[in-house]
Amino acid sequence: MSLAALRQDFPLLTRPHHERPVYFDNACVTLKPEPVIQAILEYYRDYPACGERSVHRLSNKVTLAVERARERLAALVGATAAHQVVFTKNATEAINHVAWGLPMERGDVVLTSDKEHNSNLVPWLRRAEFEGTRHAFFATTEDGAYDAEGFKEAVSAHKGRLRLVAVHQTSNLDGQSLPVAEITEVAHDAGARVLIDGAQSVPHLPVDVERFGVDYLAWSVHKMMGPSGVGCLYGTDEALRVLRPRFLGGNTVAETRLDGFTLLDPPHTFEAGLQDYAGMIGAGAAADYLMRLGPAEVHEHVTKLNRHLTDGLEARDLAVVHGPQDPALRGSIVPFTVPGLDSHDVALYLDEKANVCIRSGAHCVHSWLNARGAGGWARASLYAYNTTEECDLFLDALATLKTHLEAA
Ligand code: ALA
Repeated sequence: MSLAALRQDFPLLTRPHHERPVYFDNACVTLKPEPVIQAILEYYRDYPACGERSVHRLSNKVTLAVERARERLAALVGATAAHQVVFTKNATEAINHVAWGLPMERGDVVLTSDKEHNSNLVPWLRRAEFEGTRHAFFATTEDGAYDAEGFKEAVSAHKGRLRLVAVHQTSNLDGQSLPVAEITEVAHDAGARVLIDGAQSVPHLPVDVERFGVDYLAWSVHKMMGPSGVGCLYGTDEALRVLRPRFLGGNTVAETRLDGFTLLDPPHTFEAGLQDYAGMIGAGAAADYLMRLGPAEVHEHVTKLNRHLTDGLEARDLAVVHGPQDPALRGSIVPFTVPGLDSHDVALYLDEKANVCIRSGAHCVHSWLNARGAGGWARASLYAYNTTEECDLFLDALATLKTHLEAA
């Protein structure tokens, strides 16, 4: 599909020029294409019933549509069976299923990197606080790169008590990716399970849970052109079975007595209560859409745009780019600061003067920025529908800001 044809699928991108944003906040939430919007509308218009419960035709249609969506999401990440994918609210909730469900003793260790999103840090700190487990981290280098030796040292330092290695695949802060297959091998050799936060990788890279060998993968659907409020937890059959579901109720149990209950198997035992069926069905449509585009092609496209943006920022001396200077190592992410300006002021200026949407601040990775004494960063994050022309509009807007700053 040509880029022009692709853009036609996204309603905001078909608006008249003066109403059309340059949308560079894709690491937060992506835009949604028509097939996803249609799938959600169809549910609400044509069969807005419950799934997995009632026996009438509308309910059966919901059940079938949800299970088809689950199959599509499983296919997207290379899972062998649809029942290995649990629907959640988002990646955060998926991680919390593991954080509160994985049996651990006092003194057992969960190892993360020092550059995790709060979603993959705070649950481990909280569990340590409540239950006496321990959180340890391995350090990334000064510019946030993976340090293989540092990781291996941290694993051996905790050998015997290490229960879980929980790391991002791609960082939302600077776009760098970790070698998850290699990390998984080292962790498994030490007897630990592995949880990957795939929130930023599933929308952008070919992810293959079988090839990586991971036990769990968490991701969000709102960053892959699907609806907000839906995410997934993949787990191997064994890894899902050991988790103790904390939220129980309707449709999580095979039967109950007044003095007990029998849990359903995964995934249903983790999906308590009436679900967001429209969201799940929309998520399946988003998985189809992304598979049609091809995550590898998306990655290649955004990396090319990243190079254009990075070169422009440097050549025109518009901003300081953070993280590795090679755009190929940052994929879709361009973290930057304009010297002398708060990142939120840069984001507000771009929005007000040029209708450019970026994100600013700590990006939920306060811990890494704080450890380096860094304030917030501005962040442009790219996706499949962005263009070189949009990059130029962004660069021109920053150039005008620079002119104002120099004149002030
Ligand atoms: N984690 C999302 C972001 O980085 C919300 O913007």
